[in-house]
Amino acid sequence: MEQTLSIIKPDAVKKGVIGKIIDRFESNGLRIAAMKKVQLSEQDAAEFYAVHKERPFFGELVEFMTSGPVVVMVLEGENAVAKNRELMGATNPKEAAPGTIRADFAESIDANAVHGSDSLENAKIEIAFFFAKREIV
Ligand code: CMP
Repeated sequence: MEQTLSIIKPDAVKKGVIGKIIDRFESNGLRIAAMKKVQLSEQDAAEFYAVHKERPFFGELVEFMTSGPVVVMVLEGENAVAKNRELMGATNPKEAAPGTIRADFAESIDANAVHGSDSLENAKIEIAFFFAKREIV
C-alpha cells in the first residue's frame, strides 16, 4: 500500500470543483488518509517547489500557488503514486488524455488544477512537508 501527496491548486478551488476532483480519487481506489485546506505563504510555496528553483517558471509557479487556498491530501492505495498521476493526466492540460482531471478541469500549464508526487521517495518528503503523523489516519 502506497501513500502520495495530492494538491488541488488555487484554480480548481476557485472554480468549485474540489468535490468533483476528490470523486475521481475515491471512485478509482484512492482513499483519503489526510486532508486540509491551506493558504500557502510565498515561503511555503518556494520551499515546497525548491527543486524547480532554477527553472524559468519558478516565480510564476510560486505566485500562482499563493494566489488562493489549496486543498492538500494524502491519498492511499495500491500503486497510489502512479494511479494518481494517471488520473491527473499530463502536466500540460493541452496534452492530457481525455477524461483525466487536467483535461477536464485545467486551463494552462500553470493553472493545471492538481499536483501529485512524482515518485514514492518524493511522496514521503511532500507528505511530511504538510502533515504530522497524527493527521494521517
Ligand atoms: P506540478 O506538478 O505542480 O509541478 C510543478 C509545476 O510547475 C507544474 O505542475 C506546472 O503547473 C508548473 N509549470 C509551469 N511551467 C512548466 C513547465 N514548462 N514544465 C513543467 N512544469 C511547469
